[in-house]
Amino acid sequence: MARISASVYTSHVPAIGAALDLGKTQEPYWQPVFQGYEFSKHWLKQAKPDVIFLVFNDHATAFSLEMIPTFAIGTAAEYAVADEGWGPRPVPKVIGHPELAAHIAQSVIQDDFDLTIVNKMDVDHGLTVPLSLMCGQPPQSNFAWPCPVIPFAVNVVQYPVPSGRRCYNLGRAIRKAVESYDEPLNVQIWGTGGMSHQLQGPRAGLINRKFDNDFLDRLIADPAGLAQVPHIDYVREAGSEGIELVMWLIARGAMSDAPPKVLHRFYHVPASNTAVGHLILENT
Ligand code: DHB
Ligand code: FE
Repeated sequence: MARISASVYTSHVPAIGAALDLGKTQEPYWQPVFQGYEFSKHWLKQAKPDVIFLVFNDHATAFSLEMIPTFAIGTAAEYAVADEGWGPRPVPKVIGHPELAAHIAQSVIQDDFDLTIVNKMDVDHGLTVPLSLMCGQPPQSNFAWPCPVIPFAVNVVQYPVPSGRRCYNLGRAIRKAVESYDEPLNVQIWGTGGMSHQLQGPRAGLINRKFDNDFLDRLIADPAGLAQVPHIDYVREAGSEGIELVMWLIARGAMSDAPPKVLHRFYHVPASNTAVGHLILENT
């Protein structure tokens, strides 16, 4: 039986990808951001997941206003790195896990969550920046991410967006799906995006440290309560793009009911226009 061993939460700021790709990680502005992921890179190497189920949002890259799936599961064998306007990032393509993805789709759809099945999708910074933060730059001699990844895209860009409650319950259905897969796979689930940020309008640049840190506290200790927070509260308190945080509730919902072990917690402002938050929770 497969099992979810741990969950990882991290912001996905595109400028972090550019800083990595341009070799700027030791510059004074960026050094404190990347410092927050040093523990994580070592941890991931020894945790050795077989598959990462990576919850992220597409930023009008693979999808557009022409088609807006609320929840989309990647069932492809591989995914190309998207060109977001400056050419694709110089990172490896993403290898999928079609068998586990198809199993999860079957189980979760039968559990009444409507997923869109995606067999072709270019993945943008929402997925590649978390991989870069957690894995570092793969060496040219072995230019690959450490394991297969199942991309799971959530619409948090075009309203209506799913509630935190639905995301949390979906996470529970994903846990059940993974635990009913025959092979003994070590699966991690990552929730990405956030934390507080607003990229547009009169409040552009908004950061709310209190909201972010309360969110981290409650994500650890009271996820079911946190899941009741309505989306309008995210937008008011954490900015229009702060709504990306509902994706963290999918990963949290997929964890066991027993309290998790907090392996790492990090918070830093600023990175570009965004507050960077990061957590690693292990199932006990
Ligand atoms: C920024 C942050 C995001 O989450 C994003 O998707 C795009 C831009 C930013 O900080 O500039
Ligand atoms: Fe974003």
